[in-house]
Amino acid sequence: MKSKTAKETLAITTKVVLPHETNSLGKLFGGALLAWMDEIAAVSAHRHSKRVVVTASINNVSFGQPIDLGAIVTLEAKVSRAYTSSMEVMIDVFVEDRLTAEKKKSNEAIYTFVAVDQNGGAITVPELIPETDEEKERYEAALRRRQLSLVLAGKMKPSEATELKSIFS
Ligand SMILES: CC(C)(COP(=O)(O)OP(=O)(O)OC[C@H]1O[C@@H](n2cnc3c(N)ncnc32)[C@H](O)[C@@H]1OP(=O)(O)O)[C@@H](O)C(=O)NCCC(=O)NCCS
Repeated sequence: MKSKTAKETLAITTKVVLPHETNSLGKLFGGALLAWMDEIAAVSAHRHSKRVVVTASINNVSFGQPIDLGAIVTLEAKVSRAYTSSMEVMIDVFVEDRLTAEKKKSNEAIYTFVAVDQNGGAITVPELIPETDEEKERYEAALRRRQLSLVLAGKMKPSEATELKSIFS
């Protein structure tokens, strides 16, 4: 199975915040942003695996800045690391200044997808090759996040989470 670079998995989408996606203060609902992120991250995981992918977990989401009604929002998703059947995808969210078109990062999130066959069973995905410094940094840190996610999901014993031990000891 041919390995892929992180760059090959890049998926980008741009949205405009509409009234039905905002609360009474005219700010984007967190759930709407989560759905946008899930969709673009699935495209990225699909670009990596060329398979049907399902969301296994949402590992980390930060809603650092409120996003206003009418804002132009760009989401960029890239696979940060691939394992046997699972892929970690990082999503960066940017809001565009209406006058200068400058893009400011407002949010980020980390999702895990699993490639599945027609019966929903997990199947193997290609290896991911990080190239840039940021991709390498995200690749290295992914193992800690995977172990944390699996421990929280009850799928790994804390005693087996070697990467987490090195943080807390
Ligand atoms: C995700 C899913 C395919 C995993 O199936 P499973 O039988 O638990 O499979 P396994 O235990 O063999 O795990 C398969 C992979 O998923 C990963 N995984 C499972 N749960 C995970 C979690 N909470 N966080 C991170 N990775 C997880 C495993 O580490 C494994 O990765 P690897 O093959 O790269 O080592 C299955 O739980 C599923 O179909 N869930 C529903 C997905 C869905 O419908 N999502 C939309 C939300 S409704």
